[in-house]
Amino acid sequence: MIYKIVSYLKFLIKGKTKYSLHSPFVHEFIERALDDKEIYYSFLAMNFLRIKLKNNQTVLSVEDKGAGFRKKIKHNRSVKQIAKTAISSKYKAQVLFKIINLYQPNTILELGTSLGLTTCYLSNANIRGSVITIEGSKSIYESALQTFKTMGLSKINAINGEFIEVLKTQLCNEKFDFVFFDGNHTEEATLTYYNYCKTRANENSIFVFDDIYWSKSMTIAWKRIIQDKAISLSIDLFSFGIVFFLKDRAKQNIKIIHSINLH
Ligand SMILES: C[S@@+](CC[C@H](N)C(=O)[O-])C[C@H]1O[C@@H](n2cnc3c(N)ncnc32)[C@H](O)[C@@H]1O
Repeated sequence: MIYKIVSYLKFLIKGKTKYSLHSPFVHEFIERALDDKEIYYSFLAMNFLRIKLKNNQTVLSVEDKGAGFRKKIKHNRSVKQIAKTAISSKYKAQVLFKIINLYQPNTILELGTSLGLTTCYLSNANIRGSVITIEGSKSIYESALQTFKTMGLSKINAINGEFIEVLKTQLCNEKFDFVFFDGNHTEEATLTYYNYCKTRANENSIFVFDDIYWSKSMTIAWKRIIQDKAISLSIDLFSFGIVFFLKDRAKQNIKIIHSINLH
């Protein structure tokens, strides 16, 4: 927690507001993905689902996967506990929806399905695209399958398995236009997933890394990723970071001060 507070103070010193950023691309991103106030009709169903999950007392026997859980890991966890500690906030999920709605990526990959709520946002944002999501814990994966069924989202390809194993086997021929890295928040794992997914990216791909200030090692991973010469633009929103592979751009690493920072 102290690490996060100190990091945020440093972030505020270096961060910029939209009024001091001049790139048309970044401006459009802020206006249409961060500041857009539109309430899309699918948000209502997903808000309702969030409430249902936060009140669901069903107990799951959960395998310990990665460093992604924000609270001490127990083997028996209720859906309610998972919904309160391990899934993206409403605001963050809506921003992800708006990013996808803006750039319309074809193949979307989520590393870390959890209960599948954010997956529903990813899928609803681009109904013509496809969403692949990977979850290591069998019981959580099965709970997510139930969610997709309830929401009528039959096109989501949910896979139960270890991220890297699934990537290198079942998904070895896939190309990714959008990747949401949201599981196993360690430096080594994040860099492994990034380096692998990068080989499956194109110049319009967008990678989103959750919780880049969750720990010192996550921040180190983020800093190493944005230094990669394949990345031409990085946008640090404190609660998550986004990288773009756009060609013919001078490299730019931006920190944006915005209300999304603390979500
Ligand atoms: C933070 S949660 C994902 C939250 C979800 N994206 C959302 O916003 O609702 C991370 C999930 O990744 C899974 N996970 C962590 N490490 C994994 C790994 N190496 N392979 C497969 N799944 C993993 C965990 O079981 C957990 O359910």
